[in-house]
Amino acid sequence: MTEISDILFKKLESEFILNRDQLAPIVNGFLNEFQIGLKTPSKGLATMIPSFVTQLPTGNETGTFMSLDLGGTNLRITAVQLLGDGHVKVLEVKHSPTKELKTGPGELFFDWIADAVEELITVKARHLFQPDQVSGKETLALGVCWSFPVDQTEVNRGTILRMGKGFTLQNTEGRDLATMFHEAFERKGLNVKVSAILNDTVGTLVAHAYTNPRSRIGLIFATGVNAAYPEKVENIIKLDQQVRDKYPAGTEMLLNTEIDIFGNEDYLPLTSYDITMDKSHNQPKFQLYEKMMSGAYLGELTRLIAMDFIKNDALFKGQIPEGFDEPWSFPTMYMSALERDVTSTRQVSLEKILGKYHFEQQPSLEDIAILTRICRIVSTRSALLCSCAIAALIEQQGLVTKSNADIIVGMNGSTYEFYPFMEERLHRALRQWFGVEISDRIRLEITSDGGSVGGALIAMLCC
Ligand code: GLC
Repeated sequence: MTEISDILFKKLESEFILNRDQLAPIVNGFLNEFQIGLKTPSKGLATMIPSFVTQLPTGNETGTFMSLDLGGTNLRITAVQLLGDGHVKVLEVKHSPTKELKTGPGELFFDWIADAVEELITVKARHLFQPDQVSGKETLALGVCWSFPVDQTEVNRGTILRMGKGFTLQNTEGRDLATMFHEAFERKGLNVKVSAILNDTVGTLVAHAYTNPRSRIGLIFATGVNAAYPEKVENIIKLDQQVRDKYPAGTEMLLNTEIDIFGNEDYLPLTSYDITMDKSHNQPKFQLYEKMMSGAYLGELTRLIAMDFIKNDALFKGQIPEGFDEPWSFPTMYMSALERDVTSTRQVSLEKILGKYHFEQQPSLEDIAILTRICRIVSTRSALLCSCAIAALIEQQGLVTKSNADIIVGMNGSTYEFYPFMEERLHRALRQWFGVEISDRIRLEITSDGGSVGGALIAMLCC
């Protein structure tokens, strides 16, 4: 390691490897925003969004239900068979929207979804439905897991808010989500009714509760980040008093925090790289916390840091590989590959991973080691920042002091599940915050198919 890269790494680590004192303002900032969000009506950029789900499954429910799960990358329409005893079986139709669909007219997009719903009912899972349901004589209920902010007014009604994740659908913001679905189903002659709308975090929490009824947090750590938890209805001041009065005292309602939107320059330790990346994004100043730590952004942050190293002659002999200066050209997947790599196979992965860039001079093993170390620093900060969300949600619910029971977190998402060492890093970060004794009680458990199973469960619980 040269002297210059040593200096650059020292600076980088001092900015990125946050200690407990540096995490405290973030956790406190989140706790403060929880309180503000509980009071502020959900308009525009809403947080702390009520789901109107006040019941968690017991694990004994049975039957076949249909759900739809839309995220940044995939649309999944699923027939979920609840088998009881916490077991499920899923059969799905999966498609990815093109850029044109994501940025075009809303109606076209919803028509595309309706086609996928039809494919599930009439082809893929035909045998799981009654003949009258397949023919359209009988209405089929659909639980919709929408991984974007929605201002929910009822369990099956909600206004579409600003979407993010590359979606800029025309004529959708401000419209009722269920109505947009129903119009498309009508255009396509489908007898399907949206019986529940939920955020993916709410879906994850509900799905996890099917296998572990003691779950208290549903957390998505994927392309985006977000979390849901049960809050006492009496604390959700933003709900009208008459609405709150309808629920028996002590009732808890699942809240979609939209923690992704939390944070501002005052308490997030934004670096020059975060600021540069945010400026180059098509939605600047939106989701600042998420941009520091979720899968959609880690690769670009790494690229920006690597560019700094190159400019200082500390990487690739000071030569920018052709194409490497292209913003967003270095996906988070490359970081995973570099970090997963072991020395003996480095040369192979180097060609595979960096093959898309043109190098005047082939990078050395030292170059790869430097790039990998940058990846490690960026992803370690991501784990540290994720731990702040978990810590704030645990504190908000008083879970540490209430009892000595384990604290169950249903986790879902590619960054958590597939990024190498992320799980260990997150555990280490929680240990740094809570100490060994308490952090040992925190169980981060993977929820498979959170969105679709949660969607089906809520559709069932609400019918
Ligand atoms: C984004 C969305 C949020 C979703 C999260 C995880 O932050 O705004 O609604 O829950 O991604 O998918």
